[in-house]
Amino acid sequence: MSEESLQQLVETAKSARLQSIAPFSNFLVGAAVKTEEGKVYTGCNVESASYGLTVCAERVAIWKALSEGERQFTELAIVADTESLTPPCGTCRQIIWEFAKNATIVLGNLRGETQTVSIKELLPRAFDARFLSNAAKWRAKESPKESS
Ligand code: THU
Repeated sequence: MSEESLQQLVETAKSARLQSIAPFSNFLVGAAVKTEEGKVYTGCNVESASYGLTVCAERVAIWKALSEGERQFTELAIVADTESLTPPCGTCRQIIWEFAKNATIVLGNLRGETQTVSIKELLPRAFDARFLSNAAKWRAKESPKESS
């Protein structure tokens, strides 16, 4: 993946940000995720009056792509209007880990500043499905009778 392709994805995320529905925070975020085949899915944050139902831009982009059958992602851009580049929140880090682990994440702002990061550095020692299957195996080994 080239520097140019990352910059292009940042521009796409910047445009997606303009669709943001953020009447409560006024914090507009845009995201764009690119698939292995080069297809791009965008997202913006969508806020609910029941605040906890709000969905971040990154997750909207990832859900859109997954729901269209995409599974392999190479790049994810996230853009907000902040001096210190906005990283994904904790919930989004978990979702990125589970569904877009190999994507290069590029953070950007409206002044053209960017920085690339990986989910491994953002979410060390992540929890995922491996622990669920490991626990099942562990139980089966320890107490065979109770494992069904
Ligand atoms: N938000 C995102 O969309 N992505 C992030 O990475 C950080 C936070 C949104 C959620 C909410 O609509 C607003 O920003 C303020 O938290």
